[in-house]
Amino acid sequence: MRFGYFDDRKREYVISTPRTPLPWINYLGSESFFTLCSNTAGGYSFYRDARLRRLTRYRYNNSPLDQEGFRFYIKEGDTVWNPGWQPVQTELDSYCCRHGLGYTVIEGCKNDIRARQEMFVPVKDDCLLVRLTVSNEAGGAKRVSVFPYIEFCLWDAVDDSSNFQRNWSTGEVEVKGSAIYHKTEYRERRDHYAVFWSGREPDGFDTSRDAFIGVYGSPARPEAVFGSGCTSSTAHGWQPVAAQQFDLDLDPGEDVSILFGLGYIENPQDEKWEAPGIINKSRAEAMIARYADDAAFDSALAVLKADWERLLSGFSVSSGKEKLDRMVNIWNQYQCMVTFNMSRSASYFESGMGRGMGFRDSCQDLLGFVHMIPERARERILDIAATQFPDGSAYHQYQPLTKKGNLAVGSGFNDDPLWLIAGTDAYLRETGDFSILDEQVPFDNDETLSQPLSEHLRRSFRFTAEHLGPHGLPLIGRADWNDCLNLNCFSEHPGESFQTTGPNEGPVAESVFIGGMFVKYGKAWAEICRRLGRPEEASEAEKAVAAVEAAVLDAGWDGKWFRRAYDAFGNVVGGSACEEGKIFIEPQGMCVMAGIGKAGGQAEAALESVKELLDTKYGIVLQQPAYTRYRLELGEISSYPPGYKENAGIFCHNNPWIVCAEAELGHGDRAFQVYARTAPAFIEDISEIHRTEPYVYSQMIAGKDAATFGEAKNSWLTGTAAWTFLSISQAILGIKPALDGLVIDPCIPADMKGFTAVRRFRGATYRISVENPRGVQKGVKELRVNGRVVEGCLIPPAEPGSTADVVAVMG
Ligand code: BGC
Ligand code: NOJ
Repeated sequence: MRFGYFDDRKREYVISTPRTPLPWINYLGSESFFTLCSNTAGGYSFYRDARLRRLTRYRYNNSPLDQEGFRFYIKEGDTVWNPGWQPVQTELDSYCCRHGLGYTVIEGCKNDIRARQEMFVPVKDDCLLVRLTVSNEAGGAKRVSVFPYIEFCLWDAVDDSSNFQRNWSTGEVEVKGSAIYHKTEYRERRDHYAVFWSGREPDGFDTSRDAFIGVYGSPARPEAVFGSGCTSSTAHGWQPVAAQQFDLDLDPGEDVSILFGLGYIENPQDEKWEAPGIINKSRAEAMIARYADDAAFDSALAVLKADWERLLSGFSVSSGKEKLDRMVNIWNQYQCMVTFNMSRSASYFESGMGRGMGFRDSCQDLLGFVHMIPERARERILDIAATQFPDGSAYHQYQPLTKKGNLAVGSGFNDDPLWLIAGTDAYLRETGDFSILDEQVPFDNDETLSQPLSEHLRRSFRFTAEHLGPHGLPLIGRADWNDCLNLNCFSEHPGESFQTTGPNEGPVAESVFIGGMFVKYGKAWAEICRRLGRPEEASEAEKAVAAVEAAVLDAGWDGKWFRRAYDAFGNVVGGSACEEGKIFIEPQGMCVMAGIGKAGGQAEAALESVKELLDTKYGIVLQQPAYTRYRLELGEISSYPPGYKENAGIFCHNNPWIVCAEAELGHGDRAFQVYARTAPAFIEDISEIHRTEPYVYSQMIAGKDAATFGEAKNSWLTGTAAWTFLSISQAILGIKPALDGLVIDPCIPADMKGFTAVRRFRGATYRISVENPRGVQKGVKELRVNGRVVEGCLIPPAEPGSTADVVAVMG
């Protein structure tokens, strides 16, 4: 069942009922000010860091769900309703939500009054802009009252939701004209405040929640709205809010639009005050003035749309497959940008209070957005590398505001270092900018420990090379990509974090997966060494890689598939002799992508086993059979009920590894089959089962062992976005950035007659046409660039600014 439809021309998903299976959200903002916005206008705003600079509140596990947001109440006589249905839930005569790229428009209609709520964050400004247009579609005049409402958060979202004895006494506001200023803690150490404003003088306001909502009221029944209106309340402590009232008399056919904003303002220390106790509002007033009328609002929206047009124009395909085109050209790239901005911090599943930026996560996200914003990818790589420890290991996470590693999680995830090579390698391929390797980057954020980025990569490589276990495979540490395979943890007490209990590393537990990674990204490092004019180091690296490759093919091979790991007792994890957890997806994907066992047939066999043992109609599950009891020696993976998360859920993130692996072996039909099974646009029709947004990937879909098989969770912030984009653009469509140019080597379904694509690469534009007259799955027989035949599949970089016409004939 569907709850909306794709409008590809406008690049929107149009939702036609507010009762979606879960709130379906969008992200507004892409630089420093962000708002999460659901299809009923639920959500919250923050500045840079969803934990430390939260502007408005959100309660994740509320019932009903999704109560907080940027709300408008509309009152006509005794009828009160919201354009997005929530939170009053008055039945609407019509409803529609359009989630577009960086903006959302929600429109509701009740008793011939139409209310349209448009929201976006302007490019390069720290505010949310909202326009409400109220139209009278009745034959006679109407009188309605409109009440906007938001609830402020007292900045640090963790403190705000736990330290009540303090913060119920700290709240402070100021009201000036049509603006409400939230200035809690500004009197002491903060140099920032929030401002809510409207572009029209209100007929009333409230800043105390108790006054507007009522101590025993609820957002679904605010006392001021259902009673006799706002009372000009001032919040002193308790819960500061911004609410206003506008009484509108509307002639038949009349439209009234009112502009609103929510801004974040920072003042230098010596400019904090205008008078004792009165905050300096000049920057806020300048912001308000920037968006004073409809024309300013419209032109800021046009700038945002143009920005997206530019961002998406770097890669587009026309394949004759509508769903494929819409994923590649719009939604997959959009999600990649959102993961760039958010890492794993703030979604409707990530509270914004826990995980900041993940080292591993952000490095992988790079693979998906580097072609859109190479300059910001460069900066991101340097930020991430600065959290690396001098021995090459890494903080697992860091906070975006401070850019410092999170001590609470620390290090010990032994795949982390290699992801830095993966991300940097992707950047080098995309840009050819080797100067990044000379950038001085601190270790552990300590400037005195700065070294060139190339030294960071060397230490990443060395860390793995020097942390090998009894079988010559890399030691796993706290965990590898699979955060839940905690082989050195042995946690017996509830409440202990599986990620931080136990030692950073044990001397025995090894990971075949990291072995595969070391081969894949170790080869990339060797190549980089060669380009840097260090042939000896390159051959040494290759020797170390060859040794691990041999270990993978030896101790890591189970007969029909790659094993997953060795536990702290030296027992196999992910082998046919195991009682449960006999086969895992990760090493099959990573090892085959690394080319391991390609010559000896192991790669083919491993992928056959995946098909036979892990396939389901909704995607490939992470492992089988699911663990049915808690296993001390394996950790969190066995803590989940069978079929969920890492315990045999369909982890969407490593499905594209199988796509890439299948393409590596030339299996275009199978690669596309795996791709399509989890691609959101392809499963839109089962939205009632899938439940999360049909325009973006979720981290996990419940596996076949679960009672809710097919139900997705953790939408938006997942490495799936980057990896699926890589799998479709590079492995299937075969347009691959390489150090020496652009490679064209598609691996497509036999019945696909070809496709065209436009790819921007190092400043030039490539218009690519792939023809498949013989119905093959892989192999380019002839490649012509601007009419001239090129040997092989590699096109050397064209002049920046030029356009190259590329024809690739498969066969
Ligand atoms: C989840 C993992 C996640 C980890 C992060 C675990 O509870 O299952 O998917 O990577 O937490 O800390
Ligand atoms: C989600 C985490 O963000 C990611 O880093 C990890 O690889 C997967 N879960 C698998 O555990």
